[in-house]
Amino acid sequence: MEGMLGWPLRAVSGENLEMLVRTVAGDSAERVQHTSRVVRYSLGIASEMGLGSEQARIICLGALFHDIGAHVIPPEIENKPTTLTQAEWRLVETHTEWGFEFALRDSEMREASGAIRYHHEWVDGSGYPDNLKGDEIPLEARVIAVADMYDAITTPRPYRSALSEEDALLLMQVEVGTHLDAACFSAFQAYREKISGIENESDLSGETGENGRGEDLAKVLPFSRSSS
Ligand SMILES: [Fe+2]
Repeated sequence: MEGMLGWPLRAVSGENLEMLVRTVAGDSAERVQHTSRVVRYSLGIASEMGLGSEQARIICLGALFHDIGAHVIPPEIENKPTTLTQAEWRLVETHTEWGFEFALRDSEMREASGAIRYHHEWVDGSGYPDNLKGDEIPLEARVIAVADMYDAITTPRPYRSALSEEDALLLMQVEVGTHLDAACFSAFQAYREKISGIENESDLSGETGENGRGEDLAKVLPFSRSSS
């Protein structure tokens, strides 16, 4: 993999993105689609925040590889329709640490190792693996956390339907300041407003649920333990 990642940021779009993600995410269509969307959303946030190309490149790398450690999670746990046991949660949580270790092995991926390790940290310190708070969490990881949450809750899972865009944004608004970084979420809202009506939502979101208002985050967001 050494040397594979030296692409210019402008190349990360359309067919190039799909090809890259397929290389990284493997044969799982679900994972390929999730990764593609998280990359696009993350770059949308980076653009709205006015971040420079170097930081955007690291965000792109981090988004591309954010779940590279998820191979440690057996499908029967990832898709389990009932509450996970403590031991299962612990296994799920190790995907950030496995991804981090993987990233450290590559000279270019190393730049994104923090984004990968901390993409499940919450700004109130209730996330994992290190319970970082606020600005202790690298900005790249806070950006990816917003993109990852949006895609997770707007994508149908075997045990629940997806939320509509409107309901997903309402749910995420409640998470600002506890789970999500306020500036990153505002940038995501601005990005969504810009592209709304342009993209094919059915391609991005799949089926949507009836109404997500009042949803328990722990029930709709995979890989995220409840903070309560
Ligand atoms: Fe993850």
